[in-house]
Amino acid sequence: MTEEHIIRALEFYSGIGGLHLALARSQVNGSVIRAYDWDQSACQVYQKNHGPGIVKKADILLLTATELRTFNAELWLLSPSCQPYTVLNPLAKGAEDPRAKYPRYMLVENVAGFETSSTRLRLLHILDKLGYACSEFLLTPLQFGIPNSRLRYYLLAKWNPLKSTNTPVEAAAQMILRHIPGQGGDWLDPRDATERIYDVQEVRRYLDDDLEGSDFRISDRVLEKWGRLFDIVLPSARRTCCFTRGYTKLAERAGSVLQMNEELDGSADAVRLLDPLRLRYFSPSELLRLFCFELPRDSGPESFTWPDAISTKTKYKLIGNSVNVEVVRHLIEYLFA
Ligand SMILES: C[S@@+](CC[C@H](N)C(=O)[O-])C[C@H]1O[C@@H](n2cnc3c(N)ncnc32)[C@H](O)[C@@H]1O
Repeated sequence: MTEEHIIRALEFYSGIGGLHLALARSQVNGSVIRAYDWDQSACQVYQKNHGPGIVKKADILLLTATELRTFNAELWLLSPSCQPYTVLNPLAKGAEDPRAKYPRYMLVENVAGFETSSTRLRLLHILDKLGYACSEFLLTPLQFGIPNSRLRYYLLAKWNPLKSTNTPVEAAAQMILRHIPGQGGDWLDPRDATERIYDVQEVRRYLDDDLEGSDFRISDRVLEKWGRLFDIVLPSARRTCCFTRGYTKLAERAGSVLQMNEELDGSADAVRLLDPLRLRYFSPSELLRLFCFELPRDSGPESFTWPDAISTKTKYKLIGNSVNVEVVRHLIEYLFA
């Protein structure tokens, strides 16, 4: 590869462009030349942040191999909502076609739990047949010092026609890595571990200047009904739970809420104490920092921008659907190392 060689990348299920940002921030000399998503708001946000002419609003299942071939892309980045094999089906069909042109590198992101699905085995079989060597990971941003526990499945695939086919896919599939080789160790929950200490940042670094965040206060009605289910964290915490697209709409397993009053211990009688705890939701800009679209507040200027027409509800949905940019950046660098 010469110094001028730029890796041409396609991004599928591109959302607000977390994979694009991860590639741009990485040490890999690469560039997304076309991104696809069918969600209008996601495409508007993508375009606002990554410029015009890259993202195309389209149903990925209707893309043809002919269209994809024209891009001559070496890297495919995919974070499908559910079943990645659907986009790979054209590849599977064309596996025997000598004219077929496949990317040399692929990165797939999916929810934790995907590793036990039949879809994943099917995906591994297709990639194996096409001559890809695959590595799989289950990683959380906590391993990278970020106080958010978004455990995700990742697959890295590298085309290697010389690869040994001795290991059956089923056997290789037992080996899901819990850390990137050469980068730290497996994640152990510090609540279970006695010896390991992780250098995870305090949530405080990711909060807005306006600490009260009054726009994001949780209504009394929601507190009374759902208060017992909230995952409450303090600014001094080093962990928030996974924020989902349903954040602020669902109370349970949708993301943490922030306790602004650090004097009180919420464990005694949570419901009675809820009011003085001054609970609020994390704001969209705080979530952008936790997902590493933005740097922590004390580390640099803000760069992510929202189109004017995007509502707060849509912002939460789009961020909740997205990826942790730093985790993906590390994986991209490992893929090309
Ligand atoms: C898990 S999100 C990916 C988020 C993205 N990586 C990001 O950084 O925001 C999945 C995305 O796939 C899109 N999507 C799902 N099915 C699709 C399809 N058939 N065609 C195009 N986009 C699709 C959704 O609109 C959503 O934005």
